[in-house]
Amino acid sequence: MKTVKLITVVFTAVMVIIAGCERKVTETVVVAEQTNCFACHSDQEFSLVAADVQWATSMHATGGTFERNSSRCSKCHTNEGFNAYIATGSGGSPTNPTPIGCFTCHAPHTRGDLSLRTSEAVTFERGGTFDRGSANLCANCHQARTPDPDITGATVALEERWGPHHAGQASVLTGQGAYTFGMAYTVGAHANVPNGCISCHMAPAYGNQAGGHTFKMTYLYHDEETDFVAGCQVEGCHSATEDFDFSYDGVQAMVQGLLEDLKAELIAANLLVLYDGEYAPVEASVSVNEAKAVYNYLLMEEEGSLGIHNPDYVIDVLNASIAALGPNATAADGGPVAAH
Ligand code: HEC
Ligand code: HEC
Ligand code: HEC
Ligand code: HEC
Ligand code: HEC
Repeated sequence: MKTVKLITVVFTAVMVIIAGCERKVTETVVVAEQTNCFACHSDQEFSLVAADVQWATSMHATGGTFERNSSRCSKCHTNEGFNAYIATGSGGSPTNPTPIGCFTCHAPHTRGDLSLRTSEAVTFERGGTFDRGSANLCANCHQARTPDPDITGATVALEERWGPHHAGQASVLTGQGAYTFGMAYTVGAHANVPNGCISCHMAPAYGNQAGGHTFKMTYLYHDEETDFVAGCQVEGCHSATEDFDFSYDGVQAMVQGLLEDLKAELIAANLLVLYDGEYAPVEASVSVNEAKAVYNYLLMEEEGSLGIHNPDYVIDVLNASIAALGPNATAADGGPVAAH
């Protein structure tokens, strides 16, 4: 009995296999150079771990502004919005948004490598272009924005949030975005650093405090805030420098002084007023020159490097803005400096 049962089972199995083999092959898919998961996720390859511990301390991870998921904000403040923006030209209003992370700047599971999601040249919202290799990625988000309302007509209606938004770095780096009131200005050498932002902000990391995927430029050394100069100490650049204030007899101090001068002028002219202890644009209609000076102040204050991104340009623009508020101000010029 037992043998008969076994034979029946074996026979049935053989029939199933034969029937299966009779299926016609209708399509053959050849996967070229399929990447093994272990190319990235293995116990020999730790670059993901290094990037991850660095990224975790970055403002991209910790800043917390990824709840800004409306269609006007999502492309710069959320992972989902940026990916949609690169794919379709619009960020949309993603539900369950997540912070700017690995899959914002890379597309490893789609491409099987760690190439950047985009490194296409960027056309700024205000006109002008940015083309600095891998740093093009950053320029999509870190650019001066067009104020709302824009500076057109005879007067401009300012309000607390009016201005270039908080991140004009790519514009300032390349000498674009500010108003120069028709005055002469210079663009410094940092505009042409080959990989732009990345050469300085992603130089080989200091632990998880600066450089690499922290994108940070200062760190604590024995509890003392220290400038991260790995990206500066490059041959042909500033090979001997130990801090950021090295050239122009202290460029950051000079820019700080000019920012304070311009701010004092803007406060005296009632263009910047206090809101909960912070100065911001007054809610009022002002002249075109006044609006431009306010815009320039906010741009240079918020680009966050105290002039390092483009020392000559920042100094020229601040001086021109102070002059434009004075009694001998020249007529307003046509618009922001675009290409240079
Ligand atoms: C080109 C490199 C690369 C390849 C190849 C790759 N991954 Fe990943 N994977 C990543 C990166 C980068 C992350 C994000 C790591 C982090 O957050 O620290 C990730 C994260 C993950 C996660 C965590 C979940 C998530 O979405 O964050 C899983 C699961 C995963 N990978 C599975 C796989 C599998 C399965 C394969 C093979 C089919 C694979 N990966 C191939 C780079 C890669
Ligand atoms: C998808 C848009 C986006 C991209 C791409 C992007 N950033 Fe950011 N970045 C942001 C936002 C938004 C913040 C602020 C996050 C917050 O506060 O929640 C930020 C914060 C930062 C900060 C910290 C700012 C501070 O005030 O301390 C640095 C530095 C920075 N980014 C550099 C870079 C560099 C360099 C690149 C390119 C490698 C880059 N970012 C790419 C949107 C972006
Ligand atoms: C073109 C890209 C872009 C768009 C669009 C954008 N932001 Fe931002 N925003 C940034 C970047 C980049 C930063 C980080 C600046 C930095 O810290 O240097 C930032 C910073 C901020 C901050 C933090 C400011 C601070 O100093 O703490 C807030 C709040 C914010 N954005 C709100 C918004 C809102 C609300 C919208 C939509 C109405 C919006 N953003 C649209 C790029 C953008
Ligand atoms: C704000 C954008 C941004 C974010 C977020 C980001 N990366 Fe990167 N990553 C870069 C840039 C830019 C480079 C340098 C690439 C270049 O110069 O071509 C890079 C390089 C790398 C490299 C080295 C690539 C190589 O081919 O050697 C690894 C590994 C990496 N990233 C992993 C990660 C992981 C893991 C995460 C998340 C924890 C992450 N990245 C998040 C922008 C980003
Ligand atoms: C020539 C080197 C250099 C280049 C190129 C550069 N940065 Fe910076 N950046 C700096 C330095 C130095 C500081 C900060 C100085 C300080 O903290 O005193 C800074 C400050 C910042 C800040 C303010 C927050 C912080 O980390 O201190 C942001 C945001 C930023 N840079 C983004 C960018 C972006 C985006 C680009 C490319 C468009 C860029 N930077 C290009 C050197 C550079």
